[in-house]
Parts: sequence; structure tokens; C-alpha cells
Amino acid sequence: MRLDKFLATCAGSTRSEVKKQLKKGMVLVNGAVETHPERQIDPQQDCVVLAGKPVCWQPFVALMLNKPAGVVTATEDRRQKTVMDGIDHPRRKELFPVGRLDIDTEGLLLLMNDGALAHRMLSPRHHVDKTYYAKVLGTVDAQDVEAFAKGIDIGEKAQTLPAKLEIQSVKEVEQPFSETDSDQESPAEHAVISEIYLTICEGKFHQVKRMFEARGKKVVYLKRVKMAGIALDDTLAPGQWRELTNEEMERLQKLC
Ligand code: URA
Repeated sequence: MRLDKFLATCAGSTRSEVKKQLKKGMVLVNGAVETHPERQIDPQQDCVVLAGKPVCWQPFVALMLNKPAGVVTATEDRRQKTVMDGIDHPRRKELFPVGRLDIDTEGLLLLMNDGALAHRMLSPRHHVDKTYYAKVLGTVDAQDVEAFAKGIDIGEKAQTLPAKLEIQSVKEVEQPFSETDSDQESPAEHAVISEIYLTICEGKFHQVKRMFEARGKKVVYLKRVKMAGIALDDTLAPGQWRELTNEEMERLQKLC
């Protein structure tokens, strides 16, 4: 790898900053000052020091993204924005999403460059937990909790595996008819919205929505808040991302 690319990638500097640092003699390769940006190095063998600090190559890169609604979970798409569009990480090109969230689903999406780990996390054999917060149209009740705990038929060969449903609130809300907003006389529409947390250990297509549909209820808002023991950082606004901490990385590596 070119030395300037290595430094830009691992030290988070821009290529022009790197150029200046090299010119100033701030970069050592294996103990000797190096001024040539095009110098080829082996990131795993050579020892690079910038301004007195070693610069290490991290083979494994993983980010958490707070996925906004309206973007598709893909690395590229001809028509729609993808989850990768807002990622300006220097190693963006190596990253891919671990699993999939629907276009209208928000929340925790892991992006990483380790195909083997991602494969293990998504394998049905490993039962990695995923927790979702949802707003559901209708009254979610104790019978739903019981049904989800037993497993339900969502039209697949087998029933869903036991899932943990926690009801946060069940409230009646008023929804004015939006089309007739200007009409002062229009009646208000009432609806019951339940707020829930659901933890599942599978990843079937549209699984959460289909589980509620099977109980005659409709998910109107869905957000993933936890996956594989890693909670969505609540300081991240939709569209923002950060690298996983060392502790989160270790948790993933130990997982399966
Ligand atoms: N279940 C769904 O229905 N949609 C998602 O995006 C994730 C889980």
C-alpha cells in the first residue's frame, strides 16, 4: 500500500495533510525518515511512526449507523439512496451492512469489513438477538406476549422461534383527517397505538411486521435498538455513525 494512503486511512488525515507531514520529515518508516508519499509499505510488517506516535493498521473495521428511514440497505443502488451514502469513513469502500433493515425501518445497522464474522452473526444457527422498538396500530396485550413467546405462524415452513415482547404503553391517540385539515368541522379519528420492545433471535424477511400482522396488528414505526449485545448509541441522530469501541468489537468477536 502507498504510504500516503496508509496514513490517510489509519491516522485519519487528509492526503494533503499527509503530504505536508511527509515533507516536514514527521514520518518514520522502520526508524528512517520517509518523505515520499508513493513509498510502498506492508501495513502488517512495516513500522510507521507519525509525529512520534506509531500508526497501526487495524485489519477489522466496524461502525454502527443509526439508519434513517428512506434509504435502502445495500452498498449501491441505481435509483435510491443507500445506507452507505452518508458514510465518509476513510475505509468506506471495504464496508458492507450486516443484515438488512427495511427502507422505512430506522436504527442500529452494523457496517463492517469482516465477511466471516458477518456470516456467523447472520447464520440462523447462531441465534443472535436483535431488539426492536415499535409503534403498533392496535392494542398489544398479554395474549400477544404469550403467542410470541411460544412462536407463531408467519407463513414460513416453521413457526418463529420464541420471542420476547414487552409492552411499554397502550394509548388512544387522536388523528385529525389530514386531507380535510382545512375543514374545521371534520371529525377527529381515534386510534390505539401500542409501544413495544420485541427481541427476536432470527432474521426472516420483514419478520417483525409479519409477526404483528399474524396477530391482526400493523407496525407503523420500527427501529432496531440492539443487536448482538450492542446497543444503538442514543447520541447518534438518524444518519450519523461512529466506529465501534474496543469493548464492542471484543463482544462481537466473542459472539459466535
Ligand atoms: N423486521 C421487519 O419487519 N423489518 C425490519 O426492517 C427488520 C425486522
